[in-house]
Order: sequence, then structure tokens, then C-alpha cells
Amino acid sequence: MSGQALIEVEGLTVLANLRAPGADTRRRIVDDLSFTLERGEILGLVGESGSGKTVACRALMRLLPDTLAIKARSIRFDGTEVTALSERDFAKLRGRGIGMIFQNPSSHLDPVMRIGAQIAETVRLSKGTSRREAAREAVELLAQVGIPDPERRSEAYLHEFSGGMRQRAMIAVALASDPKLLVADEPTTALDVTVQAQILRLLKDLRDRRGLSIIFVTHDLGVVSQLCDRIAVLYAGRLCESGPKRDVLLAPRHPYAAGLIACQPAGSAGLRRLRTIEGQPPSPDAMPSGCRFHPRCQNAGEDCRSVQPPLASFGPAHIAACFHPMRLSGSAQVRP
Ligand SMILES: Nc1ncnc2c1ncn2[C@@H]1O[C@H](COP(=O)(O)OP(=O)(O)OP(=O)(O)O)[C@@H](O)[C@H]1O
Ligand SMILES: [Mg+2]
Repeated sequence: MSGQALIEVEGLTVLANLRAPGADTRRRIVDDLSFTLERGEILGLVGESGSGKTVACRALMRLLPDTLAIKARSIRFDGTEVTALSERDFAKLRGRGIGMIFQNPSSHLDPVMRIGAQIAETVRLSKGTSRREAAREAVELLAQVGIPDPERRSEAYLHEFSGGMRQRAMIAVALASDPKLLVADEPTTALDVTVQAQILRLLKDLRDRRGLSIIFVTHDLGVVSQLCDRIAVLYAGRLCESGPKRDVLLAPRHPYAAGLIACQPAGSAGLRRLRTIEGQPPSPDAMPSGCRFHPRCQNAGEDCRSVQPPLASFGPAHIAACFHPMRLSGSAQVRP
């Protein structure tokens, strides 16, 4: 691994609806998010629905509507500070350096264009290769993502593919510009578990073969534990804990992260819910003061109601933002 991380984000904030009164403090749907992503690393971004995972990823790629404003102290991509880049220069960098995959391939691939042609077009746009060479590369990419009989399949249309194959085709499009980063926003949520496992294996394999870095957004901590090296847990737009996968899953320190892990279905059958976290996440219009999790937190004290806890270190690269973290007793979690 080279000394320099692929992505270093410092203080990423997304503000919604700036014209609303009290906007600056109230409607931070992503608030002061910092993280790094090493080369060849897979980071799992987890949190409940509405916690800001998608908005954070799209802010990073500058793919948000004008109603949302992005602020950041610094975002370095592959050694380049990108916060000061013009839209045009950033779009160039994004086109070459970042691939994206989503939950629903049908809304991101063209239904009336042959699959191979869609991949070839991206190859041509990003590398300026000839049509013929791009078509050859498209077939090669389909083979790489595990589509059988890729030459023939490159002539097919999206509706001729199964769900898993569509997801593979979207991955092939994402890889066509030979990116260093793949942003995957819940790409396996709609797939059955067998196909999901195949796609996760493919992503891991692509990381190993190409040295890709991946940001993988998911609700599913089972997926994180299979796929990721590191985890970042978001709550109401703020980072509450991040660290190496094992440390966070086995010894979470933030009560929200601990609750999320305790809520995961037991065993691979996934039929039994252990418990749920009481209450609802706050709406962006009514964010609690202090720690945004405090109204739902069993550890909360007076301090949590008024002051946002800073991120503190709990081990190598393991950080959490909590005044009253979970204590460890052997391997079990206990409340203080
Ligand atoms: N264009 C927008 N304008 C205003 N608010 C928005 C906009 N897009 C998203 N939000 C709000 O930002 C918050 C974070 O949304 P986001 O889609 O990032 O959540 P998420 O963690 O990806 O959720 P899910 O797991 O359901 O995909 C939500 O409260 C959402 O309502
Ligand atoms: Mg989302």
C-alpha cells in the first residue's frame, strides 16, 4: 500500500434548503464528516434509512441537486485537492476516476441500447479508444464481471438479463473508465442472498485484481462483515463510530453502533430479530441539540444533551463520538 490514501475527506457538510429560517444549524443533513479511504480498501458506510449515506456519497462526487449545498474543509482525491476545482475539471476527474453502482440497474442503464455498446461508449469517452477497440474491451469487461458467453451477451439488451446479470453489467459500465474508486450504493439490496453473495465475491475479487478502493453503502452488517475492511457508522448525518471491521463489530463503543449490531438478525438464516433500538431517527428539520442520538440513548447524561461529543480514539484507527461509551467486559458489551 502506498503511503498516500486514495481519498481524504475533512469536514464534509451538506446543507439542505438554505432559504429556510435557521438553515445553517438545523438542516445539516451531513455534518462535519471526515474519513479516509486507503488504496485497495473497502469501506462499509452503514446507518439507518435517512442517516445521510447516499447524500454523503453523492456530495463526494458532486452529484447533488442545487437545493443542497456542499461544504468541506478539504477533499483530496488521489493526492489532488478537489474542493477548489471547477465543475468542469471535477467532472473530468469523476469520469476517469470514479465508478458508481446502485441498487437498481434499470434506472441507470439504457433499456434501448445494447449492453456491449453502453460499456464501449464509456470506454471511448474516458480513454478515447477506437470504436473497434472499445467494443473489444466491452466484451473483455463483461467476461471480467462473470457474464457467461460475453461476446454474444454484449449484443443483448437489459431486459434480457436477470437481476444479478444486470448488476454485473452495471459493474462493467462502472469499470469501463478504469476507475480507482467504486462507490456502491446498496447494490445488492434487491438481490436474493445467493446472487448477493456472488456479487460481493465479484467486488472483492475486483479489489484484489485491480486494487480498486470501494465505498460500500448498506444497511446490512452481515454484508459489511463479509466484504469490508473498515466500517463507518452514520447517525443523523454524523459519524458516530469508525474503525477496522473486527473492532467495530466485536467491540462497538458508541451506543448507537452497539444497538445497530445487536439488532442484526442472528445467524445466517436471518429470521430472528434480537431487539430494536427504541424510538425513531430525528428528521433534518428537528435535529436534537448535543449528540443527535441522545434522545434514544440509554447511556445519555446531561452533557450529551447540550454538547456534541468529539471523536475520541478507542484503539488503532478506531474512533467514536461519545461521552459515555460502551465498556467492554470480556467480549460482551455492558452499559456503564
Ligand atoms: N434533495 C434533497 N433535499 C432535501 N433533503 C434531502 C434531499 N435528499 C435527501 N434528503 C434528506 O437527507 C437525509 C439523508 O438522506 P439519504 O438519502 O442520504 O439517506 P440514506 O442514509 O441514504 O437512507 P436509505 O438507507 O434509505 O437510502 C434524509 O433526511 C433525506 O430526507
Ligand atoms: Mg440511500
